[in-house]
Amino acid sequence: MSFEFFIPPKIVVGNNALEAAATVWKQMGQKALIVTDPMMVQLGNIAKLEDVLDKAGLSYCVYSDITGEPTDKMINHGMQIYREEHCDFFIALGGGSALDTMKAIGVLATSGGQISDYMGKEISVPTPPMTAIPTTAGTGSEATQFTVINDTKRKIKMLLKGQVLLPDLAVVDPQFTLSAPKSITASTGMDAFTHAVEAYTSTKATKLSDTFALSAIQRIVKNLPLAYADGSNQEAREEMAIAALEAGISFNNASVTIVHGMSRPIGALFHVPHGISNAMLAEKCFAYVLDGAYDRFSALARAIGAASLEDSDQKASKAFLEVIKNLCQTCEIPSLEEYGINRELFFQSLDKMAEDAMDSKSPSNTRKPLTKGDLILIYRSLWD
Ligand SMILES: NC(=O)c1ccc[n+]([C@@H]2O[C@H](COP(=O)([O-])OP(=O)(O)OC[C@H]3O[C@@H](n4cnc5c(N)ncnc54)[C@H](O)[C@@H]3O)[C@@H](O)[C@H]2O)c1
Ligand SMILES: [Fe+2]
Repeated sequence: MSFEFFIPPKIVVGNNALEAAATVWKQMGQKALIVTDPMMVQLGNIAKLEDVLDKAGLSYCVYSDITGEPTDKMINHGMQIYREEHCDFFIALGGGSALDTMKAIGVLATSGGQISDYMGKEISVPTPPMTAIPTTAGTGSEATQFTVINDTKRKIKMLLKGQVLLPDLAVVDPQFTLSAPKSITASTGMDAFTHAVEAYTSTKATKLSDTFALSAIQRIVKNLPLAYADGSNQEAREEMAIAALEAGISFNNASVTIVHGMSRPIGALFHVPHGISNAMLAEKCFAYVLDGAYDRFSALARAIGAASLEDSDQKASKAFLEVIKNLCQTCEIPSLEEYGINRELFFQSLDKMAEDAMDSKSPSNTRKPLTKGDLILIYRSLWD
């Protein structure tokens, strides 16, 4: 059987990658809409980007109102600026929120309507050219055909998809990640880890997505604790930036599964940052589905040296769960209770969360078949 494999057509990786990107931008258009958040302006990252654009003789306008994970309102506001300023291409610099906002504005720019119109549909009209410059390591959005946007009316995090959402250019400069505080390093690193584990254990995994997923997991297990302990560790930051990209490539082609499916409703209803809600769920979710894929989980354990060839697949798989637990402890991932979530409200929302998770179709990529009832059980177990 053959399969297609999708990666961004151009990827620039390494220090000073911005300069290398300038030649590509000259072919993309006349005026860029820079999509970013206020922290990137404050850190001077936008000034660096403006400097490169000025030298290349390109015009730009900055939309920096991404004040949290993206909502339909932020998309509409960005769209208005894109139109009023007569922009013709996009550069997003920031975490997954800035990158996803760019993609969603890109959809409206060529397809029109409201962003919620595209839920459950394959987005197919090409967007204006898009460049993604991640500052977290991270969502991997620079290498994916997805954008995740909050529908503020329906209180759901919409997963929107289409090959046209794959950025034309990904600029991965680990220098941008050096300023990330501990909590962001932890949440985004755990997000990348979850992407890779889910891609490797997905029903849609292929030999090529496995290669990227395995490499990402090996890098993350070794380097996330180092980057968390010392944010100025350049080597660990570089390894994490590459790992996040690899993880993005792997799940772009193999999809995510149970954890992401169950994580989005927690984000939508309780405003837990994406990577944190993934990490809160990871051990319990994977423990629940372990018996559907002992061969896959055991291969992961062996690849990172947590189990040996002599161990049974079952024993090795359990050893992998221990790795997840330790990683969460090292990164000081809080429980729902420690995060301050109201238990009663959470239990009242179980049905909606499980329903929304199933609707997203991500849980159905898990090797163990799952029902809404299974998800409710797992949500409950987060309070045990
Ligand atoms: N499109 C995809 O494929 C995909 C995949 C996974 C997650 N996501 C989405 O991405 C969003 C989360 O993105 P995120 O986890 O990167 O966080 P984020 O973009 O929401 O950023 C979180 C905070 O970190 C700050 N920050 C980012 N980089 C920094 C740096 N280098 N130094 C200092 N501060 C920094 C930001 O200013 C912000 O305050 C969620 O909405 C999630 O659903 C998308
Ligand atoms: Fe994610």
